[in-house]
Amino acid sequence: MPLYFAPMEGLTDDIFRRTHHACFGGCDKYFIPFVAPTQHCVFTPKEQRALLPENNLGLCAVPQILTKNSEYFLWAAREIANMGYTEVNLNIGCPSPTVTAKGKGSGMLRDLQALRAFLDDIFAASPIPVSVKTRIGYDSPEEWPQLLSVLRDYPMHELIIHPRTRAEQYGGEPHEDAFSAAAQKITCPLVYNGNLFTTEDCKRILTAYPHVSLMAGRGLMTNPALMRQVKGGDGLHTAELSRFIDMLYAGYAARFDTSVVIGRMRDILKMLALGFEDSKKPLKAICKARTLEAQTQAAELLLSHPLRNPPSFQSE
Ligand SMILES: Cc1cc2nc3c(=O)[nH]c(=O)nc-3n(C[C@H](O)[C@H](O)[C@H](O)COP(=O)(O)O)c2cc1C
Repeated sequence: MPLYFAPMEGLTDDIFRRTHHACFGGCDKYFIPFVAPTQHCVFTPKEQRALLPENNLGLCAVPQILTKNSEYFLWAAREIANMGYTEVNLNIGCPSPTVTAKGKGSGMLRDLQALRAFLDDIFAASPIPVSVKTRIGYDSPEEWPQLLSVLRDYPMHELIIHPRTRAEQYGGEPHEDAFSAAAQKITCPLVYNGNLFTTEDCKRILTAYPHVSLMAGRGLMTNPALMRQVKGGDGLHTAELSRFIDMLYAGYAARFDTSVVIGRMRDILKMLALGFEDSKKPLKAICKARTLEAQTQAAELLLSHPLRNPPSFQSE
């Protein structure tokens, strides 16, 4: 039962990944938020930091590439292979308008002929196995059968399916029937991603599809112990959350200016706050805090509240 942490740009950077792994474990892979190679064939300093093997020691990290150009993909895949990685992930699911406007991410789902040409190129020449993270269509779930018939032609290391369309972003219920269709038609290993917020959500999918792996994003941001618990370990404790927050502060303070530390921690604390009872007041304090002192006080206020049972991204 492999369990994965989803890539989340702006949230699951290398400091977050290492700290999560040290404090909670439970995740067999951490997907690194995308790098977006260009004709210049260089990684930005931020991308280099994300990929540096020393920054991912002790955990299984999988780099992700976002591009519609197969040459750029293959350049990045070769660089990534030279760093020692044994898998690279292709992002054809990102729904962000700035990404899809350039025909990248889920923008690639609009033109299946171009997608096929791109996949032909990268699967013929990638130096390491390629996994793919996709949605089920651009505008409508009715696009899925045709898209699936393209995807099934390639020897994917894994196919991660977020069963929503680009138009649906992250809202509404995932189309589980679309995942079910893939489970019947696709022979490569499948990964289910979408709205896995509680152990019950995870167990339900594992019961329906015993051979799939699971990937969670928002569920793990709110309950960092989720995957440990799915594997039979302890549920989340406030004391370990307090240590996690302290370690994140120390990690970010060692690298960034205070204003950046506050920004990173604000985004993380806002996700964690959803796991607590009556979190309205601490959440307001977290959003308002403009100094480290105010923010750490808001975090302490949050930690003084009881955890929800279960702590879940989804509101009751
Ligand atoms: C803030 C944010 C950043 C994300 N960044 C990425 C990314 O870099 N690459 C990617 O494939 N998906 C990205 N995603 C999508 C997540 O990996 C995941 O597919 C999505 O959150 C749905 O899963 P969940 O319901 O478990 O959260 C991002 C999502 C959010 C909310």
